[in-house]
Amino acid sequence: MRAIEAEGLTKYYGPVLAVDHVTFHVERGEIFGFLGPNGAGKTTTVRMLTGLTRPTEGTARVSGHDVVREPRLAKKSVGLAPEEPNVYAELSVWDNVMFSGEIYGVSGEERRERARELLELFGLYDRRKEKAGKLSKGLRKRLSIVMAMVHDPDILFLDEPTAGLDVPSARLVRGIVRSLGREGKTVFLTTHNMEEANSLCHRVAIINRGRLAAVDSPERLKIVVERSHSVLVSFSERPRWLEGRLRGLRGVEQVVEEGDKFRLYTADPPTVLEGVFDLARSEGLRVISLSTCGPTLEDVFMRLVGGS
Ligand SMILES: Nc1ncnc2c1ncn2[C@@H]1O[C@H](COP(=O)(O)OP(=O)(O)OP(=O)(O)O)[C@@H](O)[C@H]1O
Ligand SMILES: [Mg+2]
Repeated sequence: MRAIEAEGLTKYYGPVLAVDHVTFHVERGEIFGFLGPNGAGKTTTVRMLTGLTRPTEGTARVSGHDVVREPRLAKKSVGLAPEEPNVYAELSVWDNVMFSGEIYGVSGEERRERARELLELFGLYDRRKEKAGKLSKGLRKRLSIVMAMVHDPDILFLDEPTAGLDVPSARLVRGIVRSLGREGKTVFLTTHNMEEANSLCHRVAIINRGRLAAVDSPERLKIVVERSHSVLVSFSERPRWLEGRLRGLRGVEQVVEEGDKFRLYTADPPTVLEGVFDLARSEGLRVISLSTCGPTLEDVFMRLVGGS
């Protein structure tokens, strides 16, 4: 049985088509990234999968249970840390976790044990007596992840888990996601951060304007844009004709100015390197800096959703 199966999942808010016939699945034990720009439909998808909002069309199954027809069963194995931390400002950090555990039906003893363990893991145990409303935004975010994990769910939904966190906190959260993966848990996480998706996820879905542009491993998505290899070069001088000549070199598909450098997109970096040196030699220019870059997930993203 797959952890998540979505088929033709669609959501209209009035006339606004937020999610447009999205079909994908997530295997058990997979760390699955949902990557897209603002307003792409990531949160709406998460809300449909976790039973917080009803799909207009299409179906979704979580742990084999239909999210509309069997909402209680579908929710049972799921934890959700929403984009906006859902903590109760007036309750203490500790009581927030207790309350969440109660909702998820965790028994008293186990609840206290889990709470302590998780608050320690997330660096919040020393602050357990403080009111949650007094925590900084980043700490509230961490607390909401603790609350989503208190019942030890098989599937964890994290909506932008590292947005607004400082570098050490983001690293902590990523480390925890990785260890959940090692424990065989399924993690569905949304992010804007290409590098995060690249470094954490087994597979990534790219969504734009409610539609899936691609679903694949980060490595394979990179192959989609093999042509996005590039050579970054700067010269001792930059005569006006230089850009045109670079564009004319064999193997160069596109030239983009980046500050004092030129980025030459190509599927064939070695040929371009030769061309650059030949050009420099024949025109008496010196190459000041030179590097070759593989395609990044950012390139994949821009290529797949670009122009819209
Ligand atoms: N409750 C709502 N009522 C009306 N429109 C909504 C509602 N929630 C979302 N939308 C619209 O649906 C679309 C998708 O929004 P959604 O929040 O799912 O995007 P997102 O990918 O999570 O964006 P972000 O990266 O900004 O969090 C947007 O056009 C948004 O304005
Ligand atoms: Mg969102």
